Amino acid sequence: MSRPRILSGIQPTSESFHIGNYFGALRHWVALQDDNDAFYCVVDLHAITVPVDPVLQRERTRVSYAQLVAAGIDPQRSTLFVQSDVPAHSQLGWVMMCLTGYGEASRMTQFKDKTAKGGAGSASVGLFTYPCLQAADILLYQAAAVPVGEDQRQHLELTRDLAERFNNRFAQTFVVPEPYIVKDTAKILDLQDPSAKMSKSVPAGCVFMLDTPKQITKKIKSAVTDSETEVRYDPQNKPGVSNLISILAAATERTVADVEAEFGGGMYGPLKVAAAEAVVAVAEPFAARTRELLDDPAELDRLMDNGGQRAREAAQPTVDAVYSAMGLQAGRV
Ligand code: TYM
Repeated sequence: MSRPRILSGIQPTSESFHIGNYFGALRHWVALQDDNDAFYCVVDLHAITVPVDPVLQRERTRVSYAQLVAAGIDPQRSTLFVQSDVPAHSQLGWVMMCLTGYGEASRMTQFKDKTAKGGAGSASVGLFTYPCLQAADILLYQAAAVPVGEDQRQHLELTRDLAERFNNRFAQTFVVPEPYIVKDTAKILDLQDPSAKMSKSVPAGCVFMLDTPKQITKKIKSAVTDSETEVRYDPQNKPGVSNLISILAAATERTVADVEAEFGGGMYGPLKVAAAEAVVAVAEPFAARTRELLDDPAELDRLMDNGGQRAREAAQPTVDAVYSAMGLQAGRV
């Protein structure tokens, strides 16, 4: 029996993934490889929706790819590739843009958040149409499920709408994908401001997977909590403490209830120490493995080329079907 197809992507916009990416998404990507035909991509075309330095961009794509392998994505079992190696993403991305309403795109909260400071006027059109390219990433591979963190939910709803719209308007072509969001780790919060999600754009409250053990420990020990003293899992009223419980649970592969049973009623100090140790225990071998992979650039190139080749083969039939259904010249039969 064929395994269900799944797809997810991650942006190469920093020198290191953070623990929100890792616990919110990558961990699940790794686990899902067994029972699914998984496609995972480093979305470098999405990364150029904001200004980039070309040298840094190339470097970040490689570091990102190496980290995915270090996290446990097996490039044999899964198709692990870089988005710009597959022209079909851009091809279907344009089609998705033409199917998306201007008002519909204007309602995307990620765009609003990202342009809240500088104003939409200074953003690129690519940042505005970002979700259309994301829809193309998913629909190209006929993915049935998309493992992501909570912040991607709205983009997945748009993807579903676009798939249905195309299927109704032209021809039954796309699988309509389901989000796969694991509640306990769906939103890891900023350690300095637990009202916000952890994000690479705010490094002070963000633990990077390639941080040193000392940096990790310092950031977790200085996490903002609240004016009470007792550990309790209550995301509404105690977001900082609840976030530390979630992080410890994720890092030790225990449930939140289990961690709360051990630390509940206690002081914040021991919880922070345990969380810091647990994250270091995950991050240290991860960083070592990433360095090893980066030390062998030829092997990394080989893996990336091979992944690109496999992804191109899988994507092309969808572009052909879409072009043909829409009456485009290149899709003539
Ligand atoms: P990106 O690169 O911002 O994040 C990669 C994954 O990490 C998850 N994530 C988090 N999970 C929990 N807590 C957090 N604080 C946290 N921060 C990030 C994200 O939800 C994501 O799953 N638009 C996507 C990339 C993308 C994509 C796709 C995803 C492009 N095409 C197709 C799925 C399918 C993004 O910016 O992810």
